[in-house]
Amino acid sequence: MAGFRTAAVVGASVGIGAEMVRQLAAGGVRVAAVARRLPELEKLQGECGGPDKVRVYTHDVKHFDEAPALFDRIVADLGSLDCLIYNAGVMPRVEESEYNFAKDREMIEVNLLGAMAWLNPAAAYMEARREGTLVGVSSVAGDRGRRGNPAYHTSKAALTTYLEALRNRLFRYGVHVVTVKPGPVRTAMTEGLKLPLMIDAPEAARGALALAAAGTGEGYVPVAWQPIMLTIRHVPSIIFRRTNI
Ligand SMILES: NC(=O)c1ccc[n+]([C@@H]2O[C@H](COP(=O)([O-])OP(=O)(O)OC[C@H]3O[C@@H](n4cnc5c(N)ncnc54)[C@H](OP(=O)(O)O)[C@@H]3O)[C@@H](O)[C@H]2O)c1
Repeated sequence: MAGFRTAAVVGASVGIGAEMVRQLAAGGVRVAAVARRLPELEKLQGECGGPDKVRVYTHDVKHFDEAPALFDRIVADLGSLDCLIYNAGVMPRVEESEYNFAKDREMIEVNLLGAMAWLNPAAAYMEARREGTLVGVSSVAGDRGRRGNPAYHTSKAALTTYLEALRNRLFRYGVHVVTVKPGPVRTAMTEGLKLPLMIDAPEAARGALALAAAGTGEGYVPVAWQPIMLTIRHVPSIIFRRTNI
């Protein structure tokens, strides 16, 4: 994987995150894999060639106060950190006419506040080193407030804006900040949903890592979503509210 000797993936146990760990490890990158589920992390570690290739760390990203110390531990274990990928995310199903604060809170805590808790220490570390790459896995869902799941769209819109602001802050220090916006991907998160242009997790991971390696500011995966979202972003609200997109 171009340029990275070490990387950490937060939200690495299954889905797109696990695929990124596999592809990074296959490319010779030493990886820290962070998530809650130890059995899944250990299985992934075994597939990737053991602890010399992939180190595993159990952590709930909602335990915000634990992130700085765990970040420091990962840097110490790997010797340095070239790339941090914040991929953890949740999207519970929200029914028509359901207004559920517990679900909304979970999405904001995991998708947004957890990202801030991890990206802050990583940004400070990389700013001081004058190099490094921060990656956030956002979504096409952040480009527009759609009716289906208001808090999910909000969490991803806020993550996209936060990453843009970090990029504007850090580019002068030689640090890349990359926003990955996948369209629908076949994972546990989308199980049972019929969504347009769905891709598999390995393709999504490949696209995300290509953006990370290029240090590209913001990119869609697959790139076909770029013109689609450009159009959708420009649909006037008075029309958009009457649609199901
Ligand atoms: N699937 C899609 O269509 C799609 C489209 C666009 C963007 N995305 C985004 O891509 C990312 C990955 O999604 P996915 O489809 O691969 O989902 P997934 O298969 O459900 O995997 C989610 C990952 O996030 C981790 N995670 C969730 N809550 C966590 C917590 N509290 N603490 C630590 N880790 C936590 C999970 O690990 P543990 O449960 O083991 O903790 C798991 O590794 C998410 O940010 C998602 O919003 C997905």
